Formats: sequence, structure tokens, C-alpha cells
Amino acid sequence: MKNTFNNGLSRRSFLAAAGAAAGVAAVPAWAAPSLPLRQFDLDAGPGATHLVDSDGAKTKVWSYNGRVPGPEIRIRQGERLRVAVRNGLTEETTVHWHGLRVPHAMDGVPHLTQKPIAPGETFVYEFDAPDAGTYWYHPHQRSFEQVGRGLYGPLIIEEPNPPQIDRDVTWVLDDWRLLKDAQISEDFGNRHDMSHAGRIGNTVTVNGRITDIFEAMAGERIRLRLINAANARIFGLEFDGHTPWVIAYDGQPIDPHQVTGRLDIGPAMRIDLILDLTGNPGDAFAVRDTFYSRLKYRLLNVVYGPKRLREKPMREVAALPDNTMPEPDLASAERHHIAFGGGMMGGMTMAKMGGREVGMMEMMRNGKAWTVNGVAATGHVMDPILTLARNRSYILALDNQTAWHHPIHLHGHSFRVISRNGEPTRHKEWQDTVLMAPREQVEIAFVADNPGGWMFHCHILEHQAGGMMGVIQVT
Ligand code: C2O
Ligand code: CU
Repeated sequence: MKNTFNNGLSRRSFLAAAGAAAGVAAVPAWAAPSLPLRQFDLDAGPGATHLVDSDGAKTKVWSYNGRVPGPEIRIRQGERLRVAVRNGLTEETTVHWHGLRVPHAMDGVPHLTQKPIAPGETFVYEFDAPDAGTYWYHPHQRSFEQVGRGLYGPLIIEEPNPPQIDRDVTWVLDDWRLLKDAQISEDFGNRHDMSHAGRIGNTVTVNGRITDIFEAMAGERIRLRLINAANARIFGLEFDGHTPWVIAYDGQPIDPHQVTGRLDIGPAMRIDLILDLTGNPGDAFAVRDTFYSRLKYRLLNVVYGPKRLREKPMREVAALPDNTMPEPDLASAERHHIAFGGGMMGGMTMAKMGGREVGMMEMMRNGKAWTVNGVAATGHVMDPILTLARNRSYILALDNQTAWHHPIHLHGHSFRVISRNGEPTRHKEWQDTVLMAPREQVEIAFVADNPGGWMFHCHILEHQAGGMMGVIQVT
């Protein structure tokens, strides 16, 4: 049967593979100095893959190791990761380890943290993985085109003691703008996408393929890791016939809670779910994406096979163990206001670009449409919007003054989302990418414990290219 996937390890095979690991479980994994170095190779280059269906035309893409998504990198918390990235493209590239709190020199931001990798060259990234969770990797060089053509992959950091599940499944979600011949429309970075919602595609893939069916077994408990790798599309998933538990946002544990409504996942965000397959053999239920009222569709069907794995479904969902972020001290935290402006219908008239005051029309002629604190970024190297003292707590009051959604991402740190429009959030969730609704105000809090200059930008990649990007310096 085509378009099905079972790319995870069962609990049993995971334990077998992990072998002796059970013996060291009492010691936090990252405290043990002798954990192995895990090595991977990523080869970025042009290729072709079946996005649409396996008998039809292949789509020309840019990919890692010839696959979309790129190979899954899966290691354990506390291990050291070494990835040799070879650039087989005809333009410069880098790799950013989205959500991982890595040292500055390994963050993959061209000119800011490294010299971009030239065509034909190799760069070796190496860092420890301090936190467990669901992450992903992608270029940070002209990412609106490089990611949009298929350069991205999942990065999974296993907990030392993973929760008890039957299957560990990852859905890397993406959308593509394909022409009738199944080739990618070349209109990357056009002015309309840039100044509106970004490049929303017309074809949605799960793990690099249009997917009809997800095979299920009655009674199964699945850990479902959702990764939104799309340039711009926000997914709003509804699981007919099921009530999933959210156990992590952006890799970071959250008090497990059930979702009955829509689950919104902005570009670059991840959500880990516990999905109990409470249906019966022969059942079929849709997973639908209803985020954009005029673009609703069925993502896939969860189809139950004839067998039943267990009679009594599991009931309890345990919280994942905490990761290692320091807790911000809200009482002493210093507060800063950051305004996001621009775009169509935002009312912005003037902005700073390349050190000059310019009008909106001139900005647009230069391919810019967005600002952070009144400045439209023209590259990754710029004056910081903020300089923060190392190991101090901060609250950033993010102010979306635009008529559009923005998933705002901070490099090098995770932050707690503490309020939305003045209301405290229920879970104070840790995130690295926070989705802001039009005109929404969101407060985030964190300890600035990672030294360096960190990108702070919208992850709608056309907005980022269009100027919605800043640098936060931690000294
Ligand atoms: Cu996912 Cu600045 O990146
Ligand atoms: Cu944006």
C-alpha cells in the first residue's frame, strides 16, 4: 500500500537497540562524560523525488542525501553530534539546528556565526545535545528558496527513559507550490508572497509524499511528532474520532493535556502528541487541516487494520522529564518591548533600511516589507535590537502591529510563553517559535544564558527575507 509510513522504532526494538543504556538511567545522561559521539553526513544537492505519487512524474528538488525530508538524525540526550555537511548546490548554504541550544559557532547563520559553505565545500558541525525533544534542521542561507525546494530534515533527541508507547512516528509536514507537471513553481520570493501570508503551496506532503492513509491498530499508543517544515503554511489539525494529548511543544515538555479542538502549528513549530488509537478494527477517521477557512482539506485518513493490539487502552499519560533550561526569575526580570510591523494592511508608512529612513514603496522596490522595532533587515549581520547580560532573566513583550500571523523564532534559547493579550497562559509553555495572531501581544521569558548574537525572526521565510529579522546579543 502506498503512502503509508511506520518510520519509528517500537518500544521493544528501541530497548533492544539501547541495550545497556538502562544501567545508566539513574545518572542524567548529559552528566556522563563518556557518551558516544554520533556522526552523520549530509549532502545538500539537487535531486528528484516522488512527491505526488510513486508512478507519476518526479519533482526536481534540492535535498539532503537525495531524500525529502533529509535523513532523520536521531540521538540520545547528552550525546555529542557531529555532522559533516557537504554543499553540492551551486550556491552557498549553511545548516541551522532549529531549536537546539548549541554554541554560537555551530548555529549555522551565514556571516553571523560562520562563513557560508561554498559550493563543493564541507563544514563539520559538532555540539552536545543538552535537551531531549523533537527538532529539525534546515539551511539559513536564502532559506525561503533552499527550504522551499526541500532542504530540511527531522532531528530527534531521545529521552534517557522515553515514555511507554507502541510506535514513535514523525510527520514532517510541508506544502509545495507545484505546477501541472509536478515541478516546483519558480516564483520564489515574489512580492505578493513576501508582503502577504508568505508562500502558501497547493500540495501538502507528509514525510515528503502526498499521503492518503495512516495505518493504525486498535488499542495502539503512538507518540506522534509533528514538525511544520513549510515556508509559510500554518497547519490547524483536527483529529476526527480521537482526542490526542499534547506532551511537548517545540521539543520541550508541557503538562500533558488533551486537545479537543484544533491544534495550530506554525512554520518551524513542533508538537509531540500521545495519540491513543481508540477506534475499532475497520474504522477510518480523517485528520483535517482547517486553519485557513477557504483552504480546508483532509490531510489523511487514519485507517484501522483488522487486528487489535490490546483490549484495554492505556489511560495515564506521564509528563516527559524536564529539560535543562534555567528557570527565568520573573520578579527580577528586565522587560523590553519589541514591535513587529509592516505588510499589507498594517498601516506602516516609514521604516529604517540599511541605515536610512525610507517609505513603504521604496522598501517594496528593494524586496522588503517588514520590520522589527522599525528596522527592515537587509542581511544577517546588523546592529542588535537588544543587548542582554548573560545569565539574567528577561521578559520580551512582543507586539504584533501587523494584520498577519507571525511565528517568531529565537535562536540559542528556549523561552516560556507567559501571557497572550495580557492573559497569563495556562501552561507557560517552553517554545523556541511562538505563533502570534494578527495584532496579538505575547510575553516571553527566559534566561539569556547562551553568549553570542542570536537571530530573532519570523519563520514565515518570505517575511524573514522581507526584513522581519533582528539580532539579540547576549554578552
Ligand atoms: Cu528555523 Cu532562524 O531558523
Ligand atoms: Cu511573519
